[in-house]
Amino acid sequence: MANKKIDYFMPTEITFGHGAIAELKNIAGRKKRILLVTGRTFLKKTGWLDKIRGLLKGKKIEIFDGVYENPDIALIEAGIKAAKSFKPDLIIGIGGGSVLDSAKAIALLAGNKGSVISFLDKKVKIVRRGIAVAAVPTTAGSSSEITPYSVITVKERGIKITLAHEYLYPSFAVIDPDILSSLSKSQIANSGIDALCHSIESYWNVNHNPVSDMFALESIRLIFRSLKSFFRSPSSKKAAFDMAAASMFAGLAFSNTRTTACHSISYPLTTVFGIPHGQACAVTLPGVLTYNASVIPERMMNICQAIGAKNPKDASARIKRLMKDIGLKTGLKALGLNRKDLETVLDKGFTPERMVNNPRKIARADMSRILAGCF
Ligand SMILES: [Fe+2]
Repeated sequence: MANKKIDYFMPTEITFGHGAIAELKNIAGRKKRILLVTGRTFLKKTGWLDKIRGLLKGKKIEIFDGVYENPDIALIEAGIKAAKSFKPDLIIGIGGGSVLDSAKAIALLAGNKGSVISFLDKKVKIVRRGIAVAAVPTTAGSSSEITPYSVITVKERGIKITLAHEYLYPSFAVIDPDILSSLSKSQIANSGIDALCHSIESYWNVNHNPVSDMFALESIRLIFRSLKSFFRSPSSKKAAFDMAAASMFAGLAFSNTRTTACHSISYPLTTVFGIPHGQACAVTLPGVLTYNASVIPERMMNICQAIGAKNPKDASARIKRLMKDIGLKTGLKALGLNRKDLETVLDKGFTPERMVNNPRKIARADMSRILAGCF
């Protein structure tokens, strides 16, 4: 690292900790019109909606609560329409990765002229900042509250496209571990393992730097310390705090590096086979780790150390054990795929903008071997 120039960027103002949600009152400050972007049931079911309304007393509030898993173009267009008619001066996104990705895309694209697909296809440039966003994650894993990415599904093509732009960093991130206590076990498992993929893929990423490295390793350590106990006791304040921190650190890492092969391969697993995002990324993590080990031996040992493993083989085994412990599947067959399906994954899972970040080049034949190993 000596003499190497470091570029690290994080414009989001972060408030983190038990009770951090109260900060929404200050963030709303002099804003008058607030659009809440959220999912269909979580907030109402858990009582958080009333709490948030209380913090925003006196403001004109509209709620766009139509966000579903893996947001697509129709959803973003509906959100933009709602934003254009209500004209908010602040959008607060409260939810998991799908909600936050949607809130960010709606806020940015509502302020720019062009169709959603034209921005995804890079046919039209983003020139304006859009509406200010405050992001409140209700899961520990996507880190969307501090990343410049919004992943949008293009249904008719059966693919996901990542919109990546500096203006997609929310202005504010409010990370309150207390909000995580109402998560289901499957949400804890899927979002937690997603954070592990983010941090490991950031650490071995060709775009890594000493700042992202530090966050990535700390995130890996925390996940191996607390994901299992958070899964077992979702009401544990300590485990929730650790996982919220792990997700924040993963975001501080991969916001500056992007992801690699595991995320690339995950997209058809989700869009075509309906496998949840975290599970879809993690199923190839042990295989990709073994594949990458030979080209970055020293750095791979740092990953092993953060996991508490002796060597890459042991690290892969420990990742699989963690996945099993939190109710996830460790093979594609167990996830319902058959051998023929691997061709589809090969055809659609090679997204150059992610694969180029992998430390070891992956050709189609390599990817085929990796998939066979993860079957
Ligand atoms: Fe992810």
